[in-house]
Amino acid sequence: MTEPLLAVRDLVQEFTVRGQGGVRGGVLQAVSGVGLDIWPGETLSVVGETGSGKSTLARSIMQAPPPKSGEVTFRGVTLGTLRGAALRDARRSIQMIFQDPYTSLDPLWPVARIVAEPLIAAGVSDRGERRRRVGELLEQVGLDLGAHGRRRARELSGGQCQRVAIARALAASPALIIADEAVSSLDVLVQAQVLNLLEGLRTSLGLSYLFIAHDLALVKQVSDRVAVMYLGRLCEVGPADEVYARPRHPYTVELLDAVPRIEQGERPARDAAADALADAAAEAPSPVHPPSGCRFRTRCPRAQARCAQETPLLAPGQGAASGHLVACHFPIAAGPEPERGHPTARAPGPERGRAAEPAAGPERGRAPATNTAATKTIASDSK
Ligand SMILES: Nc1ncnc2c1ncn2[C@@H]1O[C@H](COP(=O)(O)OP(=O)(O)OP(=O)(O)O)[C@@H](O)[C@H]1O
Ligand code: SF4
Ligand SMILES: [Mg+2]
Repeated sequence: MTEPLLAVRDLVQEFTVRGQGGVRGGVLQAVSGVGLDIWPGETLSVVGETGSGKSTLARSIMQAPPPKSGEVTFRGVTLGTLRGAALRDARRSIQMIFQDPYTSLDPLWPVARIVAEPLIAAGVSDRGERRRRVGELLEQVGLDLGAHGRRRARELSGGQCQRVAIARALAASPALIIADEAVSSLDVLVQAQVLNLLEGLRTSLGLSYLFIAHDLALVKQVSDRVAVMYLGRLCEVGPADEVYARPRHPYTVELLDAVPRIEQGERPARDAAADALADAAAEAPSPVHPPSGCRFRTRCPRAQARCAQETPLLAPGQGAASGHLVACHFPIAAGPEPERGHPTARAPGPERGRAAEPAAGPERGRAPATNTAATKTIASDSK
């Protein structure tokens, strides 16, 4: 296939909010000009702190509600042009799995009925055939129709519930699954099991995933590419290995600093970093009145005057690996891979906290439009 499975172009989603308790109302800019592609069989992870617009992006892709502007194309069809049954059919091919499996499953329905529902919607009217398919689907997610089919959600563990949610999603024969914090509420071991399950299904069923998470560590093992989102915009996109080993955007570095360093026995340092990130998120600028220019500038240790005046666009940085894009006027230099095992993988010495020389060529001034389907590695933030 020469075209992406999903292509998102210049997507904008806004909400009108009323002023409350001394806080001014206005137009909340939840997603501002996001572009990305997902290719068949690919997993793209979108990471960012709370309120950065990840779920809004996912919902806007699903046209629930439709974006204020921009385009979402799935299998070459622009979803915004579809209505009624045609839109429902397209949506069936894009399934969502949510964070809390207990609230995303009907508490009164037995597992077998939950998984059968999408089959009924797809017109599988024969009961015997439905039962056979439900049995197959439960088996695919490591459950058993006899043992689990009659149970209700509250009678299952969190991991089992999430497996039922995955089986229900698979019942619609999707090509793309959007997993919005799908493993965040599970404990570490169960997280790993569910991630392994999703990874296995990707291979056996040829699925693509849009994985949404706060935590870069969580998605490391499953991502082909990673897109980092801050206050409604993408600030860095690239092959997962590159983004983890050589982050170019100061915000990505901040997120990586919060990654657990359990392997190095540095748990306390991580907790401090994670706490600092949570505090910073709590003090993030309002999406109703985001900072001019670069939205990260109020938290950025490298900010300069230009950052308030010009919005940085996603562009390939000087010396960056193919497909590694960063939206920053003064990105961290693309250096050699630092010491292995250090999750932050930052540039050494004076690079930290100090602005690098502006890159030559297109990185100076206006960055070129990067949001073309000409490469397999695109994601852009064109506003
Ligand atoms: N329906 C809505 N009406 C008004 N504001 C909304 C609505 N939905 C989302 N928002 C706002 O849009 C911004 C982005 O929210 P969103 O839920 O997409 O963030 P998120 O990155 O998914 O956060 P989290 O990691 O906590 O799930 C937030 O400021 C949120 O309050
Ligand atoms: S250096 Fe400037 S453009 Fe880059 S992230 Fe910091 S504030 Fe934004
Ligand atoms: Mg969310």
